[in-house]
Amino acid sequence: MSTKAVQKLTAREAEKELDRLAAEIAEHDRRYHAEDNPAISDAEYDALRRRNNEIEARFPDLIRPDSPSHRVGAAVSEKFAKVVHARPMLSLDNAFTDEDVTEFAARVRKFLGLKDDAELAFNCEPKIDGLSASLRYENGLFVQGATRGDGTEGEDITANLRTIKDIPLRLAGKPPKVLEARGEVYMSHREFAALNKRQEKEGKQTYANPRNSAAGSVRQLDPGITASRNLHFFAYTWGEVTALPAKTQWEMLQAFKDYGFKVNPLTKRVETIEAVLKFYRDIEGKRAALGYDIDGVVYKVDRLDYQERLGFVSRSPRWAIAHKFAAEQAETVLEDIDIQVGRTGKLAPVAKLKPVTVGGVVVQNATLHNEDEIRRLDARVGDTVVIQRAGDVIPQVVKVILEKRKRGAKEYEFPTRCPFCGSHAVREKDEKTGKEDVDRRCTGGLICPAQAVERLRYFVARPCFDIEGFGGVYIETLFDKGLLKEPADIFRLAKHPEKLNRALAERRAEMAAERRAASGKEEAKKSKKDDDEESKLVENLVAGIEARRTIQMDRFLNALGIRHVGETNARLIARHYDSIDALVTAMEGDGAIAELTEIQGIGEVVAEAIKDFFDEPHNRKVVKHLLGEVDVRPMPKVKTAGSPVAGKTVVFTGTLEKMTRPEAKAKAESLGAKVSGSVSAKTDLVVAGPGAGSKLKDAQKHNVQVIDEDAWLKMIEGL
Ligand code: IVH
Repeated sequence: MSTKAVQKLTAREAEKELDRLAAEIAEHDRRYHAEDNPAISDAEYDALRRRNNEIEARFPDLIRPDSPSHRVGAAVSEKFAKVVHARPMLSLDNAFTDEDVTEFAARVRKFLGLKDDAELAFNCEPKIDGLSASLRYENGLFVQGATRGDGTEGEDITANLRTIKDIPLRLAGKPPKVLEARGEVYMSHREFAALNKRQEKEGKQTYANPRNSAAGSVRQLDPGITASRNLHFFAYTWGEVTALPAKTQWEMLQAFKDYGFKVNPLTKRVETIEAVLKFYRDIEGKRAALGYDIDGVVYKVDRLDYQERLGFVSRSPRWAIAHKFAAEQAETVLEDIDIQVGRTGKLAPVAKLKPVTVGGVVVQNATLHNEDEIRRLDARVGDTVVIQRAGDVIPQVVKVILEKRKRGAKEYEFPTRCPFCGSHAVREKDEKTGKEDVDRRCTGGLICPAQAVERLRYFVARPCFDIEGFGGVYIETLFDKGLLKEPADIFRLAKHPEKLNRALAERRAEMAAERRAASGKEEAKKSKKDDDEESKLVENLVAGIEARRTIQMDRFLNALGIRHVGETNARLIARHYDSIDALVTAMEGDGAIAELTEIQGIGEVVAEAIKDFFDEPHNRKVVKHLLGEVDVRPMPKVKTAGSPVAGKTVVFTGTLEKMTRPEAKAKAESLGAKVSGSVSAKTDLVVAGPGAGSKLKDAQKHNVQVIDEDAWLKMIEGL
């Protein structure tokens, strides 16, 4: 194993090493799984994967299609047991400007129906850049610790967390019977530097930044190693708690302190937006001297009853926001502008850059967004540019340094034809506003190979069919060979592994020939071992596909790649229709758009895009073929237990006095109700406040039950 520090690798060395690591890890996987005869220890295996990940973190452009990291956590998850979180672990929405923060506060006020001068306090906390963990205490004893994982399910790292001194094993004071304290595990700058020094001296891999090293240290199989890493923990939120000891975020943190947790000492409770923004600037000023990494600050509505009312939108609370620090910037040369075509035909200009390190990561590509942006920047090939990168956001070009422009640099001409299929690429005009779309799109639609490949890529991706190991190169190879034309083909191919085998073997031979041509060297002949590896690969692929023959309806809809229908809208639509057949049938009828727009959160534009999709015969065929291969499961009912309105259609009308309209809707939906804007024979319940008019009459006409706001609140009390 090469022992050169990851930070010191050149791009060429990194590429070579990733190649070697992919092969080596695959071989260990095979020995472990197929032969049950591992050649190395778990710790050594972990080290290989870690080194692979670290190199990839530094050189994201070199990530291989067959990288072991695509099988995220596959190996690790076999080693740590899974933990289903009693309450999901959520993430935060981001604010980047003062204005974003002001808007956040305004949204909160509006939702709660608070006047501008009504008191609204925020708890302001530094945003620690580490990894989040959930610590479960029963009767005051630490019983289980878990990583965040995908938010619903994490990994059991109890033994490792026990070694962290900031984590109490027994709580002080009078804690609730069950308490899940959540917070961030992090490593100080000093410890990070010392650790890397030790690692280097011992010829072991070094880490790119304190966050990676905290994560790597916690996910060790040997808790002894975690113990030697001197990690820290700040508590800042909670999961399941049998009896909340406080009424505000601030008091909760005080309670945490009393139980024996560390709470960030810079935390402040403030009562105005001016004070919130001042907090941000103060912390920004202290950032460099803190001794640990933070990547912003977090504002939380202080009152817990408000938090409760505000609830969540998809994965983030409405009551909190992360205000991120400005991105890190660097100067480099724009070597070329590449045009990529996405699944909706959008021509996306990508800046190909002379590799440069920004905040510890080597960047070679950055987005230029669109044609107007290139014009605004006046970016030309050969220019010296400033790029910036913030956290996990795609790097972008922010400025051209005109003084450094070479003479003769030509203005960039944005293509008006698709570079893949030659069709015209146009900027659509919005019929209503007459405004030109910022994106130029390929009009090739179904004939454009780039769009087809991207659609298929999207189909197998995480939030859609999530077919393990079926990304990147496979899609392209199978598409090029004509074996994969539409999504249903994926499932048809799984029944013919020999076809998959042949296609991949051909691809491998082609790649070897390319390498030979490039290096001028003969490569070793394909061995029996290669053959075995290949068939193992295909076996895994087939298993990955077969595992997805049953799929939940929201994922199915998302996978179809309908314009404007991503995860969130797919979920809203899937919740509304009882089955995929019901949706397909509904789309054939005249009332399709009207029914779609009745769904809370679905507007005209989205409804029309869905209808258009199902109006297109080719799409209907694609869906039909797919339904011949897979089973689509309807959505599980939300919180139906104990909810009197689950599955019912509710209409709110008139003036509501104790809650705002969006709040009423959000609450009803969280209890499994469908909230509609108009009363029909399908309505189950009308909640009417003073001033209710025509809807009340409609309710009488259709014989629908009508109740007032108080009766509604009584009905859902305690839920
Ligand atoms: S609150 C429901 N508070 O940031 C509330 N998160 O970008 C969830 N983080 O996953 C989180 N410092 O790992 C919260 N003071 C803080 C935090 C914090 C760091 C992390 C946390 C979370 C991520 C979201």
